[in-house]
Amino acid sequence: MGEKPSAAELLRRSSGDDCAGERAGEATESVSAAQTEALGGELARRLAGGDVVHLRGEIGAGKTTFVRGMARALGVRATVSSPTFVIAQRYRGERLDLAHIDLYRLAEPEAEEPDLLADYRDRRTAVVIEWPEESALLFGEQARFTVTIEDLGSQRRLLRCQERQ
Ligand SMILES: Nc1ncnc2c1ncn2[C@@H]1O[C@H](COP(=O)(O)OP(=O)(O)O)[C@@H](O)[C@H]1O
Ligand SMILES: [Mg+2]
Repeated sequence: MGEKPSAAELLRRSSGDDCAGERAGEATESVSAAQTEALGGELARRLAGGDVVHLRGEIGAGKTTFVRGMARALGVRATVSSPTFVIAQRYRGERLDLAHIDLYRLAEPEAEEPDLLADYRDRRTAVVIEWPEESALLFGEQARFTVTIEDLGSQRRLLRCQERQ
């Protein structure tokens, strides 16, 4: 006893719940980047084209790590990194494409063209947004899923996921 559960164990425990990888309203602890990727993968398998996922958490919490797991689960072969000079990147997947948007550097969304992100809205693309706080103006819709990642120190992270009812 006292051992940390594996990613597979965490996923098994939470299977059938409404926000893959995490029980509704409960938090799941991840103890490695690989585990956070696995949780991202679980969520991605539930996505349909047009779905939007909001990812909340401070710098270094593991948002991009989570996206990497989402991409892998969708069959993306390209390397997923933080978009540095672009705010959005589209990855070609098998079943779906994944649009990875990072609004961290978007200081003034009201100063942007309202259709800045229009290219990423289509029925074949699921969208995941880091720093979504300012996205309403540009994306105009609530997310289907909101994932919050909290850094508990060292490699420990607390993930919460909510699905819009
Ligand atoms: N349990 C964990 N989950 C996610 N990332 C972790 C974990 N433990 C350590 N890390 C490390 O923390 C960093 C998270 O970075 P990143 O995913 O870019 O965060 P963000 O996009 O939130 O700024 C990575 O270097 C990752 O390897
Ligand atoms: Mg990031």
